[in-house]
Amino acid sequence: MSDHKLLLAAETPLLKGSARHIYQHPHDKNLLVKVLIHQPYATRPGSLKEWRHELRFRFKHLCVLRELNEYVRIKSIATESSIFPHLASFRGFADTDLGPGIIVEAQKDQYGKLAPTYTELLKTGRFDAQAAADLEAFFQTYKASSLVMSDLTGRNIVYAWQGDCHRFMIIDGLGDKTLFPIRSTCAISNKLLKIKSIERQRRRYRKLFKHSIMLETVRAISTTPLIGKNSKKGK
Ligand SMILES: Nc1ncnc2c1ncn2[C@@H]1O[C@H](COP(=O)(O)OP(=O)(O)O)[C@@H](O)[C@H]1O
Ligand SMILES: [Mg+2]
Repeated sequence: MSDHKLLLAAETPLLKGSARHIYQHPHDKNLLVKVLIHQPYATRPGSLKEWRHELRFRFKHLCVLRELNEYVRIKSIATESSIFPHLASFRGFADTDLGPGIIVEAQKDQYGKLAPTYTELLKTGRFDAQAAADLEAFFQTYKASSLVMSDLTGRNIVYAWQGDCHRFMIIDGLGDKTLFPIRSTCAISNKLLKIKSIERQRRRYRKLFKHSIMLETVRAISTTPLIGKNSKKGK
């Protein structure tokens, strides 16, 4: 076994994504290692189902490569620099005892913990007016750029502390995830699909805001003493 291999198999992943396990880098607290986990198809080896399972795994590999390709592409275009501050840094590859790993910079919150995703912010009631303004700023930059991101989901953007302010950061979802890479090959579809995905995420927080404004109004009404009630008491 190579001396340079990162040993992760005995460690518990910090998080599990839809395809990858996220580990703390064993030698650097500011880095994470992402590993695509291959689960062998246990039942009925040699079956059509196993073949489909393997094919799906190969496609996941292809998506990881497309993600890196998009990162390198966008980073090499100087005129796209406005999106750079929103991209979590890719720091290279590592050979691990779980297979090849991708090293990325860990995005953190003010207290040094892993930054919450947009979905977590919404679910825990931490999405406030400042976060909404920061999200809108991110949407504007994202829309104006040529960045290809197939998965603008709440779990692929985190709200990270930058030393003096928060910023929404893309930590996953770059590149096409369809067999034919439609977004990379057609700029117009990329733009239209971006607008659609931004609208979908906007609806999520606007719905939540509407709900909390309604709750506050109901609370305010229920705690305000009624004139009729008071005047009755006075009688
Ligand atoms: N660079 C990062 N900084 C902070 N948290 C991260 C980072 N990368 C991933 N995460 C966390 O790990 C989760 C899963 O990572 P992700 O790369 O989205 O995996 P998958 O490719 O399986 O979807 C994310 O939703 C996020 O909470
Ligand atoms: Mg993800």
